[in-house]
Amino acid sequence: MALLKREEWYDLTRTTNWSVKYVQEDEMFPEEMSGSRGIPAEVWETYDEPYKVSYPEYVSIQREKDSGAYSVKAALERDAFVDRADPGWVSTMIAHYGAIALAEYAASTAEGRMARFAKAPGNRNMAVFGMMDENRHAQIQLFFPHANIKRNRQWDWAHRAYHTNSWASIAARSFFDDIMMTRDAVSVSIMLTFGFETGFTNMQFLGLAADAAEAGDHTFASLISSVQTDESRHAQQGGPSLKILIANGKKEEAQTMVDAAIWRAWKLFSVLTGPILDYYTPLEARKQSFKEFMEEWIVAQFERQLLDLGLDKPWYWDEFIRALDETHHGMHLGVWYWRPTVWWNPAAGVTPAEREWLEEKYPGWNETWGQCWDVIVENLQDGKPELTGPETLPTICNMSNIPIVGTPGNGWNVKDYPLEYEGRLYHFGSEPDRWCFQIDPDRYKGHMNFIDRFLSGEIQPPDLAGGLSYMGLRPGEMGDDAHGYAWVEAYSQKIDDVA
Ligand SMILES: [Fe+2]
Ligand SMILES: [Fe+2]
Repeated sequence: MALLKREEWYDLTRTTNWSVKYVQEDEMFPEEMSGSRGIPAEVWETYDEPYKVSYPEYVSIQREKDSGAYSVKAALERDAFVDRADPGWVSTMIAHYGAIALAEYAASTAEGRMARFAKAPGNRNMAVFGMMDENRHAQIQLFFPHANIKRNRQWDWAHRAYHTNSWASIAARSFFDDIMMTRDAVSVSIMLTFGFETGFTNMQFLGLAADAAEAGDHTFASLISSVQTDESRHAQQGGPSLKILIANGKKEEAQTMVDAAIWRAWKLFSVLTGPILDYYTPLEARKQSFKEFMEEWIVAQFERQLLDLGLDKPWYWDEFIRALDETHHGMHLGVWYWRPTVWWNPAAGVTPAEREWLEEKYPGWNETWGQCWDVIVENLQDGKPELTGPETLPTICNMSNIPIVGTPGNGWNVKDYPLEYEGRLYHFGSEPDRWCFQIDPDRYKGHMNFIDRFLSGEIQPPDLAGGLSYMGLRPGEMGDDAHGYAWVEAYSQKIDDVA
């Protein structure tokens, strides 16, 4: 029997809208779930997904991908790379799995919303595959770290992180809940797949895969590049939605969703991916700096895509580009300093050789961030490690849920962007963070960041120990310096060399 080519039947078979008789259209597609914004179903039927695949094709591709990644894992298991890997690299993996694995599972639900409620048949069809994508790579990112739990309990945070109130989990949940769990199908396609998956997952999965290959970690490299092949396909669901909104007089709303999603994603990645790429990854394995990755994967890519679609660059673009030199250095310093509060061991990444690299990539680093690290180094050399740990809590932004930071030294520029709303005073780390809140105050006004919870008495006893127990961090899980402070010796060495 002759088979038709896919392009001869695809459009027809996935055109699955029909006129409903026993219910009203808005009962079948409630506006709060579908988000059709008054645009008629016939228009949504013109949604043209750029990536077309049939179910049998999908299954066979996914099977190949899984067997590829699992066989690399099986083949290299005896090699026990993790046991001889640089501790900074191990921390990279542990931080990644905790921050990402369960968010993938949640993303499956977000895809499910589009699969059921999108009025565009093309979006529904792609989202079914997207749902299976997220499920596949949630499973694989839980299975791989599971093999390492025998080495260290921190690996268990791949599964545990999102079930706790660790500050990093609160920040990640707040972002993902906002863009993917609590929005209508059209907003999800724009904020999750276009705003977040187009650029940021590329950076996390391809940027890290490049470093992993350089570090000799072929298991992790093959795993995360396998994940990204899923992402890059289902990330294409947002573009056609944007085209429809723009063509139907909804450009401003589309632009606002894109701007908010990109800004919130950037802030989360400044604390997760920034420190990983510029500090935890061993120097010789660094392909590019975080800023260079951001410029390539986010700045250039979004500028091109936004203009192609007929949207504008986000209004805060200059501020965003400026922040690429600043925010993640502050986040790294903060995460290292408050290291007992994370489920991985932060690598300081500031030996003299690493500082040279940082100075080259970020001119002025030594004069600013370097001064703070000088004090830490001095205290460690003087045998006073207790002076390098936290006694107080930082001020945390009510949008990003991460500390409000600025550049130290002579250019000290830290600033709070406050806002009073319905009698409550909110603090934001930047103008765009405050703007995100102002778009839809009712959405955000009830959220309590870690400091709010502390001040309201929810965290008992109100000290560091109470905070750690509230965050669910148990002995053997709280972070400490990845290299056991051995890196400080490089400084004494330097002094000896001079002498
Ligand atoms: Fe995913
Ligand atoms: Fe995804």
